[in-house]
Formats: sequence, structure tokens, C-alpha cells
Amino acid sequence: MMACPFSAATQQVVREALAHRDLGMRPPHEPVPAALLATPAQPLFAALVRMRDDAGHGELKAAISAALASFSDNELCQATHRVAQQLAPDMLTAEQLTRFNYALPIGVLADMLGVAYQERTVLVDNVLDFVRCIAPGGSEQQMARGVIAAGKLHEWMQAADGPLFIRLCQRIGDRSVAIANAIGLFFQACEGTAGLLGQTLLLMQKQDVTVEYGLSSVLQETPPIHTTRRFALRDTRLDGEPLVAGQTVLIALKTEGESFAFGYGSHQCPGSAWAHLIALGGIRHLLALNMESKLLTHFRWRVSQNAHVPEFFTAEEQ
Ligand code: HEM
Repeated sequence: MMACPFSAATQQVVREALAHRDLGMRPPHEPVPAALLATPAQPLFAALVRMRDDAGHGELKAAISAALASFSDNELCQATHRVAQQLAPDMLTAEQLTRFNYALPIGVLADMLGVAYQERTVLVDNVLDFVRCIAPGGSEQQMARGVIAAGKLHEWMQAADGPLFIRLCQRIGDRSVAIANAIGLFFQACEGTAGLLGQTLLLMQKQDVTVEYGLSSVLQETPPIHTTRRFALRDTRLDGEPLVAGQTVLIALKTEGESFAFGYGSHQCPGSAWAHLIALGGIRHLLALNMESKLLTHFRWRVSQNAHVPEFFTAEEQ
């Protein structure tokens, strides 16, 4: 019988869990989810920096971090501005706003990776399908859609020729690992940045604060990725308590003493500067459009075990 999940929710235990050498990103008996085995998504999943704890993780992480850090703030601001204009020359409905929040980080990455423009609208749908299949709790149907999406993303990425893709290939060395991790960037960026954008818009509607203050306040108080998990790689202890091999550890990224909005330890997010600049540019774009505040009136939270993303919708008139 599998032991119950262990919950880490205080600052000290969360730090211990995120830096623990006996805790890994995947259960030791299932490095790739069973539903993805013998599908095109299997090698892709296995190569993702987010899913690895082997000896190669550090080098791969350093390569991805260096490729992301090689772009200046100015380059990222310009790309965000360009993509925001293309996605939303106006903003008329709540549904359009929800779509914009997901599509902006995906569009900026696509722009920098050099994924052909005509594929970008379907790209957003496929990234969202892929996210559903990789994130915890996916249904059988979501896993099946995710596998199809992974195949398409792989095909498009093979033809990518943008500066981010070139730098990933150069720094990682192995082209197929670079392709997998370029696709992984979409997965990593999408929900977190959409949550940061949406939550900051809601905060700015309630309080008269600057965009910068709004962004840091959301990251501090209600991190868009609020939970992560680890798995005991072997029998070990956490907070002095025994954990058995395979046991799940649920980790709260917001604790009373500290927010771990971008994680901590060896798997800490390498995209925090990108996230910040994309969200900043997105909100500035919406402010410049004079978007009506009524678009923010109705929202529901995305169905997700780890992301806190408001999805705006138009309520039926009574
Ligand atoms: C507001 C937006 C974002 C939030 C809240 C966020 C949050 C996080 C968190 C909490 C982790 C650690 C997960 C864990 O330890 O289990 C993480 C990892 C990661 N993030 Fe982000 N992220 C955001 C945007 C981005 C962007 C824009 C990129 C890329 C451009 C990115 C790339 C990554 C990658 C590659 C990892 C995996 C690192 C590793 O496992 O070594 N993230 N992110």
C-alpha cells in the first residue's frame, strides 16, 4: 500500500524539501508517466530538465539558464510588445483576455525560438493540451490529447530557427535534447505567466498600485504556481519524519515566512526574469488599450492542482 502524501508547508520544511537530495521530480518506479510510454511524448518527457535528477541535470540546467540569460531586457521587452500587438490590437471580451494571458508567454517564446508565424494560433491550443498532459492529475483523454500535441510541437520545433533555439542547441550540444527542452519552456512558462498576468490585473482593479508593485505583490502573496511535489527516491527522512521510497511530498510554495514563487534549490525557475518582463509588457499593453474593467468582473480559477490562474468570462445577461 502506498504511504499517504507528506505535506511540507512551513518555511523551514519547504526549504528542506526543495533542497533534499533524496527527493526527486519523479517517482523512482515511474520516471515517465505510464500513459506516455511508447508514445512520441516519452523521449520528450524524459529529456525535460524539469523532470530529471540524474547527473546530467546540472549541466543541462546551466545551458538552458545561460541561453535564457543571453537576451537583454530590451530585447525581451521589444518581443513582448511586438507579440502583444499581434495578439491583441484590441481587447473587447473577457474570453479574449483569458486567451491573451495564455498566448502572450507562448507567443514571446515562439517569436524568440523562431516557430513559424502561421502555426502560432494552433500552437497555443497544442501547448495548452501538452500542459494538461504533463501537469499532475491529467485524465486519460487529456493524456491522449497531450501525446498528439507533443508530436505536433516536436514537428514545428524541428523547423525552428530563431535566436533562442540556436543558443539552446549551441549550449546543450544535443539537438534532440534542445528540441525537447525548447518545448518544455512553453510548458513551464504558460500557466505561471498567465496566472501572474491575470492575478495582477485583478489586484490593480481593487487597489491603485503600479504594475511593478502589483506583480511583486502577487508573487509574494499568492504565487501563480502555488504547489509543487517531490517523490522520495529511497527511504529517508524529512523534518525528522520517515518517508518511504516512492512517497509523495506535497510542497506549498507560499509559507507564512517566505514565498517560493519561482521555487528554490537545484530546480529553481531559470525563467523568472522572462516571466517578469512578459507580464509587465502584457499589462502595459492592456493599459494602453484602455481595456474596460468590466472584462475582469467574472472569472473562475483554472482547474489545476498547482496553478492559480483566473480565467475571465462573459456572464449571461439575466
Ligand atoms: C510567473 C511565471 C512563472 C512562474 C510562477 C514559474 C515558477 C516556477 C517554479 C515554482 C519552478 C520550480 C518547480 C519545482 O521546483 O518543482 C519553475 C521551474 C522552471 N521554470 Fe518557471 N515559472 C514561470 C515562468 C517561467 C518562464 C517564462 C520560463 C522560461 C522562459 C520558465 C522556465 C522554467 C524551467 C525550465 C523550469 C525547470 C527548472 C528545473 O527543473 O531545473 N518559467 N518555474
